[in-house]
Amino acid sequence: MAGLSQNCARKLLKALNHLRTFHATAICEKAKTGAEHRWLARHLKDPFVKAAQVQNYRCRSAFKLLEIDQKHQILLPGHVVVDCGAAPGAWSQVAVQRVNAAASDPKASVGFVVGVDLQHLSPLNGAIFLSNADITDLDTQYKIKNILPGGMADVILSDMAPNATGIRDLDHRRIVAVCLSLLDLAQSILRPGGTVLCKLWDGSESQMLQKRLAQCFSSVRTLKPQASRKESAETFFLAKSYKENKKYLEN
Ligand SMILES: C[S@@+](CC[C@H](N)C(=O)[O-])C[C@H]1O[C@@H](n2cnc3c(N)ncnc32)[C@H](O)[C@@H]1O
Repeated sequence: MAGLSQNCARKLLKALNHLRTFHATAICEKAKTGAEHRWLARHLKDPFVKAAQVQNYRCRSAFKLLEIDQKHQILLPGHVVVDCGAAPGAWSQVAVQRVNAAASDPKASVGFVVGVDLQHLSPLNGAIFLSNADITDLDTQYKIKNILPGGMADVILSDMAPNATGIRDLDHRRIVAVCLSLLDLAQSILRPGGTVLCKLWDGSESQMLQKRLAQCFSSVRTLKPQASRKESAETFFLAKSYKENKKYLEN
């Protein structure tokens, strides 16, 4: 609002709020089923949705990463970060701020953020985005390696979620499969001592995934941040201190 008179800024904010209400009403009118109405009612009341609007995050999931990072300090100035399943880009926004990838703090080391998604990603200052790219595809993994400074990363984030079918066990197995592909990516790009944070929907293969992570990392924790809805099977594995590995993918 710099450069605007107070009166003008107030009018602009009022108009913006009016637009938001109009948008919410329009979406509500589009909801056809009872389940859609319930989802919308919950979404519109959600304090994290409101906070994301106020703080200009692209979606509420920003607060999951903010909380995890606040507690576990995984993103530091100067870090190189790969954000898998980055669309619409809220985790990348958090990563850019935390690692100083847009050089907004001239005194801190400047980090680097690459975001990848199957969907289109709108540009974000401080991040390089690979849209329409599948992380499980080796070509995408080579592309990422070529973009990274020195071909290496300190942190791999994954909030990836395959399209849910509603069949709990199937959805669980599919998300575990994308999490396992992160181990191939880690073998190619993750520095010894590095971190992987990945989302999964809990189920019968969670323990197997945890064990696989524990073979490659010195510590693996299960996390459920407050912004993650209690009724959701969503949970996160935080794997820290990547063990040295000799087998990097060739360029
Ligand atoms: C919950 S959204 C991520 C939200 C994001 N963390 C943010 O804060 O904006 C999950 C994303 O994972 C992406 N995704 C699922 N499978 C993927 C894959 N194999 N490769 C790349 N992206 C994938 C989906 O397209 C979707 O955009």
